[in-house]
Amino acid sequence: MSEYLILRHRAIPGLERLPVYLEHQGFAAFKKAVMELPPAQVIQMVKDSGLRGRGGAGFPTGLKWSFLPNDLWPHYVVANADESEPGTFKDREIMESNPFQFLEGLMIAAYAVQANVAYIYIRGEYWHIARWLDQKIAELEQAGLLGERLFGTDYSLRIYTHLGAGAYICGEETALLESLEGKLGQPRLRPPFPATAGLYNRPTVVNNVETLANVPLIVLNGPAWYHNYGTDKSPGTKVFSLSGCVNRPGNYELPFGVTFRELIFEHGGGVPEGRTLKAVMTAGASSVLIPMDESVLDTPMDYESLNKFGGSLGSASVIVLDDSVNMAWLTQKTVNFFKHESCGKCTPCREGTYWMNRLAERIVRGKAGLREVELLYQVARQMQGKCLCALGEFSTLAVVSSIDRFRADFEAVVTKEPIYG
Ligand code: NAI
Repeated sequence: MSEYLILRHRAIPGLERLPVYLEHQGFAAFKKAVMELPPAQVIQMVKDSGLRGRGGAGFPTGLKWSFLPNDLWPHYVVANADESEPGTFKDREIMESNPFQFLEGLMIAAYAVQANVAYIYIRGEYWHIARWLDQKIAELEQAGLLGERLFGTDYSLRIYTHLGAGAYICGEETALLESLEGKLGQPRLRPPFPATAGLYNRPTVVNNVETLANVPLIVLNGPAWYHNYGTDKSPGTKVFSLSGCVNRPGNYELPFGVTFRELIFEHGGGVPEGRTLKAVMTAGASSVLIPMDESVLDTPMDYESLNKFGGSLGSASVIVLDDSVNMAWLTQKTVNFFKHESCGKCTPCREGTYWMNRLAERIVRGKAGLREVELLYQVARQMQGKCLCALGEFSTLAVVSSIDRFRADFEAVVTKEPIYG
């Protein structure tokens, strides 16, 4: 794509510096919102744009903002920068290279729900980005774009960064809020959703970094303009993080509706020479395995089209798998990750991921038979629909889909060739 909405730094050198960002209409949207638009109108613009949450769930952003009750204060906005899904590395590029567009989106979100304090919760491994954003926030305060009584109005805003400590579960919005409050990062039961009972039990918007980075351009150019990109139900562009068995891995910003074929072959340069494409995961480890053949390659990638595979686009961390990959091996790697990251609060996830990992280990080590493959399948099926948060549910997706769709790989491992002998 020649036109970037989110990765604009690739077209505009130096965009991470405030003077350059200002030269390119930077903070014009925030100023316009604070000085000219009532908060409800900003929310309506984002609703009309059809912007949907880029963290993975695709929930309508404007609708989420509109849920905050106006009889309970203060309101908070929290940017979810805990990007931890294996294969997801888009928010990192946005924060490193186009930080002001993200910060401006966060500031507009805060204004729209009349929050005077916003937090950025960043995964522990991104500590250097937290320091980087602290510098950017200080620059904004010095420039009078952030702080008390902005542009002569009554509106004030402060932004604080907060580092996580390396726990995947803290990307789950309620575990994130617990952690931000200084407690152990474990999910809360939903409902109530953060929109009504979030940080310190107050109405809170939690939005992903990429979601927020879309907002300035929507406010500046209007919701109708945004519909020039993407599909009817999934407007806009998406930053796809492409990795795995592909010649040119990396972030690709493309309109929703781009096909697997375009992403993997045109942009990603296809699978390594001599290999054939076998499967794709679209939401990192939290994904079903979609077997790839000619008939599937032209499927559009948006929030709807992948339902027919029992999957979803998620955060669009597209992991490409070629015929060198045995899916029993992949399954073991995946469940090992979830077992390590399970927070232990609910029994189905704590015990289920532990037992799935033990079974998968025995399978790949050649210490199990088809009976254990069936047992692994049953454990995963038993967990489904019973876990407190999405982590437990997601831990089962690769297991069930790989045994359903690539049973021959498991049979090969248990009857002929164990992966770790
Ligand atoms: P969800 O669909 O339950 O919720 C999505 C958002 O909508 C949340 O902010 C929630 O508060 C809000 N919401 C939903 N229904 C609501 C209602 N009735 N009232 C008010 N607000 C409501 O999805 P969830 O569990 O928050 O996230 C799952 C997604 O996260 C998956 O798609 C997965 O791919 C993705 N994910 C992303 C990771 C990353 O590193 N980016 C890591 C792990 C998972």
